[in-house]
Amino acid sequence: MRAVDIIRRKRDGGELTPSEIEAFVAAAAHDTWPEYQLSALLMAIWLNGMTPAETAHLTHSMCHSGKRYDWSSIPGPKVDKHSTGGVGDKTSLILAPLVAACDGIVPMMSGRGLGHTGGTLDKLESIPGFRVGLHENELREALAKIGVGLIGQTAAVAPADKKLYALRDVTATVESIPLITASILSKKLAEGIDALVMDVKVGRGAFMKTLPDARALAKSIVSVGAANGLKTEALITAMEHPLGRAIGNSLEIIECIETLKGNGPRDLETLSVTLAARMIRLAGLAADDQEAERKIRDALTSGAGLEKFRAIIEQQRGDPRVIDDYSRLPSVSHRHYLKAERNGYVADLNAELLGHGAMVLGAGRHQAEDQVDHAVGIIIHSPVGTRVTPGDDILEIHYRDDGKLQQALHWLSKAVRLESDAPAAMPLIHEILTEET
Ligand code: URA
Repeated sequence: MRAVDIIRRKRDGGELTPSEIEAFVAAAAHDTWPEYQLSALLMAIWLNGMTPAETAHLTHSMCHSGKRYDWSSIPGPKVDKHSTGGVGDKTSLILAPLVAACDGIVPMMSGRGLGHTGGTLDKLESIPGFRVGLHENELREALAKIGVGLIGQTAAVAPADKKLYALRDVTATVESIPLITASILSKKLAEGIDALVMDVKVGRGAFMKTLPDARALAKSIVSVGAANGLKTEALITAMEHPLGRAIGNSLEIIECIETLKGNGPRDLETLSVTLAARMIRLAGLAADDQEAERKIRDALTSGAGLEKFRAIIEQQRGDPRVIDDYSRLPSVSHRHYLKAERNGYVADLNAELLGHGAMVLGAGRHQAEDQVDHAVGIIIHSPVGTRVTPGDDILEIHYRDDGKLQQALHWLSKAVRLESDAPAAMPLIHEILTEET
């Protein structure tokens, strides 16, 4: 089977056969086609799309290009959540312990932050000593003992995706529903889970900027997940403004711990509880939505979720004393306050601009090789809708370096907009898509 014939078929709008897709994926995993042919086919897919059957097959092949975990020796349903990424999106660290406290088994593989969005691994690594690079036997031990392990993607998982994602990044072929679907689901299927709840973010701080695009991705993920035997649901949730009040790694860890103590901001707690409840319902650990939400709320209010988070930190060799003593987390002494200059309401806190500001401070990465500064970040004192008077704090900026602060202020000052009238309330959860919808 010649690469050029496969490229020509997709270029002309045809449907690829399973064996053509397998040839493409094998070539990506084993470097047997030159990059210009892999890239040409990626562009043809970007331009002409794929049928649901092609996308399902691409997902299956990419998953089978590498290691697939099998946790069947550990009793209990295996369930995970994945987010398309946002600013201040820290729900994984709240819902993973809550779900494990309700008997779900959560083998969660997460990524690092890139660009204006944060990553779960960077947040976890702000806990002194915390190891995200568990070996398979260590993850198995964590799942058997405490029901949850929070680790990074290993190179052995979906190697075809690693190759193709790197090519998509430099050939302007990232924004393709079938390619995104196959990329995300191939890695999630390899985790050895039975159920997946997707959080598809929509808005300026998200990958998907419009509701129709987010809906198309959500629908594709739910149907392709089901076609590959994975129970899948997707929530489309708002990413116009940051989630919660903290942006930046150790500041977000503090916010997660506060949420598990029952003191979290309303939006963050609501989304974390909703996602966690959908996870246990999909995993068969609750008879209906009401029971699922009640179980998760009980785990939150009883402190069982917080104790599970302590167990995770201990299991992964972090310092569990951070839970009661935030001074053990990395911090900086410099603060700058962005203040209201007039009377009004906070009408906008642009998530994308705030994410850029946090990245420039050092909390995120321009490029995959960059190091992050776990200590720096932003606290939102006046969320959208707050009435402010001159001198009120809107943002508290934790910075290490004056030069970086000045660069960050360029983004942060544009991110904040005051208006005379109170802004209309915006929904946090736009839609929930299930296999039936
Ligand atoms: N995240 C992924 O893992 N893959 C994509 O293609 C896009 C987002």
